[in-house]
Amino acid sequence: MKFFIDTANLKDIQEAESLGILDGVTTNPSLMAKESISGDDNVRAHYKKICDITPGDVSAEVISTDLEGMKREAAALVKIADNIVVKIPMIREGVKALAWCRDQGIRTNCTLVFSAGQAILAAKAGATYVSPFIGRIDDIGWEGMTLISDIAEVYAVQGFDTEILAASIRSGSHIVAAAKAGADVVTCPLSSFESLFKHPLTDIGLEKFLADHKKALSVVS
Ligand code: E4P
Repeated sequence: MKFFIDTANLKDIQEAESLGILDGVTTNPSLMAKESISGDDNVRAHYKKICDITPGDVSAEVISTDLEGMKREAAALVKIADNIVVKIPMIREGVKALAWCRDQGIRTNCTLVFSAGQAILAAKAGATYVSPFIGRIDDIGWEGMTLISDIAEVYAVQGFDTEILAASIRSGSHIVAAAKAGADVVTCPLSSFESLFKHPLTDIGLEKFLADHKKALSVVS
């Protein structure tokens, strides 16, 4: 399973990259706004900075909602760096844009996916990644994670090679559940990755190992 970090914050991306287990980055217009990045030139310059930090896939989202606009943006975004993946929303024009990108050899991430039917459309249109938003489904009181297993089942039965990118992941237990349900990729904030490190028995165990080591040293000297 691949690990992507879901942020536009350069410090967090750098930190995740330094762990040696980062496979890519996802961003969206809200995450860019959170870093106060706006305007085409600034947005592109920021994507370039992200691509300079990581060799992994970096999803850059289009803002247009019409086909011609999305095509124009996709063509400009992929010029930024070889590891740019164009993020396109799951709307009617978006499906056309995904198919156009497929024909141009442009890699894509179909975003805002909330049903297995939408995931079928994305795969048919040749999306490289499909992004089901788990946390946002949980937010409305439904069981988000079943969407990952549904899509995994459909893709396996049909032999689709679009990768399932579990998005809107908000905790360590979400990561584990997505992995069990068949996600190819999980994207989440740095805090969710960091929660995977934590276990009280690891801390207690290490403390005892170090204390015993110190005790043994004092016996020898
Ligand atoms: C994925 O590509 C999205 O940027 C992201 O996972 C959305 O997460 P949120 O629902 O926590 O905003």
